[in-house]
Amino acid sequence: MSWHIRLMVKDDIPQVTAIDREAFPTMWPPVNFHNELNNRMAHYAVAGDGQRTVINPKPALQLTPVHSFLNLKWPFSSRVPGEDHPQKVEYISGFLGLWVMVDEAHIINVAVRQSCQGKGLGELLLISGIDMAIRNKAVVVTLEVRKSNTTAQTLYAKYGFQEVGSRKAYYTDKKEDALIMTTDFLTSVAFQTRFSKLKAEHFRKLGHFEYGI
Ligand SMILES: CC(C)(COP(=O)(O)OP(=O)(O)OC[C@H]1O[C@@H](n2cnc3c(N)ncnc32)[C@H](O)[C@@H]1OP(=O)(O)O)[C@@H](O)C(=O)NCCC(=O)NCCS
Repeated sequence: MSWHIRLMVKDDIPQVTAIDREAFPTMWPPVNFHNELNNRMAHYAVAGDGQRTVINPKPALQLTPVHSFLNLKWPFSSRVPGEDHPQKVEYISGFLGLWVMVDEAHIINVAVRQSCQGKGLGELLLISGIDMAIRNKAVVVTLEVRKSNTTAQTLYAKYGFQEVGSRKAYYTDKKEDALIMTTDFLTSVAFQTRFSKLKAEHFRKLGHFEYGI
């Protein structure tokens, strides 16, 4: 494997949507990643496998004016002109979304394909999320996590996230509580020292990959 961590682009959206649906099937409405790419507060990183490609599905129906064969104006076509062919794109294994509002960064979602879990990608994406938060001058990073999701909580705790509260029945599917977890100040010596050490150790462990964040 040759991992590639970089910012999400439009061509990643079909795969990122599929990963999001696999990880959060009951979340409604689903995230509109096209809107997210145009949202100035949102920052998305993806983990790609540089050695593997997939064919993206044809673009979804779009309403575009075209000329019909009778040269009459027919108002709507089902395809975007020039985008009719399926495209070969990099295989995406996981993604992380972050919103930066004023000086607070909020991790909106992080997910790794089930078939790619346990290989260090979730941790790599969390590192990229923290780096994006630091670059965007956030003071802390916060997130919500299901009370039952101990896998994710263990990962967050490793990076210094601490439970600071909860939201009752936040997840409406099972009326499950959310734990609110927050980092120390990102500029604090304690956070910086821990983060640099964990990041360096994780990069060493993963070996060769490209980090484009
Ligand atoms: C949470 C998630 C992103 C972790 O991704 P991953 O690629 O499997 O995790 P990694 O291999 O990078 O593991 C990193 C750390 O996560 C924790 N972790 C991973 N798998 C774990 C498990 N089965 N049990 C407990 N902790 C676990 C550990 O702290 C691990 O660090 P370690 O290797 O030093 O022990 C992934 O499980 C996932 O996509 N889950 C579904 C979506 C989700 O729940 N997202 C979080 C929403 S808040």
